Amino acid sequence: MSQTPTSRGPLARIPFVCLAGFMGSGKSTVGARLASQLGWRFVDLDERIEATSGITIPQFFERHGEPAFRQLEADELRAALGRAVEQKEPTILALGGGTYAQPGAPEFLRNAGVPVIWLDARIEVLLSRCMTMTGRPLFRDEASFRALHTQRIVSYQLADFRVDSSGDAAAVVAEILRRGIAGVPAADLEAHLELEKPKS
Ligand code: S3P
Repeated sequence: MSQTPTSRGPLARIPFVCLAGFMGSGKSTVGARLASQLGWRFVDLDERIEATSGITIPQFFERHGEPAFRQLEADELRAALGRAVEQKEPTILALGGGTYAQPGAPEFLRNAGVPVIWLDARIEVLLSRCMTMTGRPLFRDEASFRALHTQRIVSYQLADFRVDSSGDAAAVVAEILRRGIAGVPAADLEAHLELEKPKS
């Protein structure tokens, strides 16, 4: 994995970072916090899919099946990038658990110049987080969850950065900022936050 954010393609001058990772890795929670700390826009791809289709993701899988879901997911990914370019909005985009594992997705994001952070948590942590939540049609039982995870690891490994997300979201965000991998060097960000502190 490379150590510097990529800066090619149409998004070269607009800060745009994708969070990839398996179900339960914290993409939405970490993404929302990270965006708020950076003062960037946060987009959740699953939410975009639900907004466009007007139904929940489990309903979408049930009514239209996974291939149609993947098609809409790819369309929404392109739309999110297009919107950021058009509106020149620095953006953190949380992908769905399967988005980056679809054929061609890593190449598509690389060609667009979008750095991808893989949030990687231990399988036991992923399992325990997903056990307590509903709304994931691909979380059926422990065995299939583990098998899907193993199958997808090779895709996640194509990401530009890997951050351990087994701990709490605040620590994960701090690690991303500390390493400067959202494209903002940690020193600049600290200076920025320092300036924003209300005077006492
Ligand atoms: C999926 C993960 C989900 C959602 C859909 C499919 C997957 O996103 O996109 O249920 O293929 O792993 P989260 O990872 O946010 O749960």
